[in-house]
Amino acid sequence: MPPPKHAEGTHRMTVPVLETENLVKIYGRGETRFDALKGINLEIGKGESLAIVGKSGSGKSTLMHLLALLDGPTHGVVALEGRPTNDLGAKELNELRNSAFGFVFQQFFLTPGQTVLENVTLPLKIAGVPAAERKRRGLEALDQLEMADKAQNKATDLSGGQKQRVVIARALINNPSVIFADEPTGNLDSATSRVVEDILFGLNREKGITLVIVTHDTDLARRCQRQIYLVDGQIVPNPEEEAGDVVDTPARPEARETADRGGVTVKEPETGAIVTLSQADLAELARGAQRPPHTGKHAAADPHTPEQPGATA
Ligand SMILES: Nc1ncnc2c1ncn2[C@@H]1O[C@H](COP(=O)(O)OP(=O)(O)OP(=O)(O)O)[C@@H](O)[C@H]1O
Ligand SMILES: [Mg+2]
Repeated sequence: MPPPKHAEGTHRMTVPVLETENLVKIYGRGETRFDALKGINLEIGKGESLAIVGKSGSGKSTLMHLLALLDGPTHGVVALEGRPTNDLGAKELNELRNSAFGFVFQQFFLTPGQTVLENVTLPLKIAGVPAAERKRRGLEALDQLEMADKAQNKATDLSGGQKQRVVIARALINNPSVIFADEPTGNLDSATSRVVEDILFGLNREKGITLVIVTHDTDLARRCQRQIYLVDGQIVPNPEEEAGDVVDTPARPEARETADRGGVTVKEPETGAIVTLSQADLAELARGAQRPPHTGKHAAADPHTPEQPGATA
């Protein structure tokens, strides 16, 4: 049963396209055990663009791989369109990924010996689409990325930005509901990055494709509707907001992080009262404070912010 259509810009009114419940990922065991994700609860709305941000090793790619059903969690659940995926077999998972998802991963290299067109149409081949239709749709996708003239080139004979556009063409060939991108602009110059970003956000706007983007690029993260911040395998509130915009309200309450609840515990300086603010409260305060939305550097130097949650731990 398809969920009801919703108004533009309101992404929380329908069943989330992806949802996780207490997602835990443990690599290795015994001495080599590493807890890469420590209980992630996340909802991703249809048509949303979400940035996953965090330091190297914080668990971004691990989370993305679990969301994309490329790897299974140690504990917890990933639900796609409200349907838990734990019980699905390898074949069903493959089919689901191939039909619902597109991938823009740098590790997912193009096959060097094959042409651009063959690379782009691979998901269709896997899905059993006949050759003539594969070609038609492949050229159409390449055309959207202004790469149709390179269709018969070997994938190796392309620039980095062109390769990235071919990867995007391949990611959108199946009309996926979600595109997962891991550092999609990582190796590109700023002009080419902008082209790649514009393509991704164009697909988001015009086709309603959900974007889940792992990135170190703060500008790219800010172009997304929502950002989540990972620290040591846990989602924490926005370190920037906490350090500056939100917590440093006119009353300047002393901030203490309660990261696992997605809120912040603050102490009112006047009364000494301890109150826990939810994300919604924080957003409300931020609006009230009427400060520019991104003051990370400034905030970090703010003497009224005794600690920067998320910077350590
Ligand atoms: N297959 C694995 N076996 C053991 N440990 C792993 C494995 N994959 C990842 N890890 C560890 O899990 C942690 C999270 O890795 P992950 O790749 O998710 O980080 P990341 O946030 O994507 O980092 P980066 O920004 O460097 O790509 C790291 O400490 C990493 O060493
Ligand atoms: Mg990574």
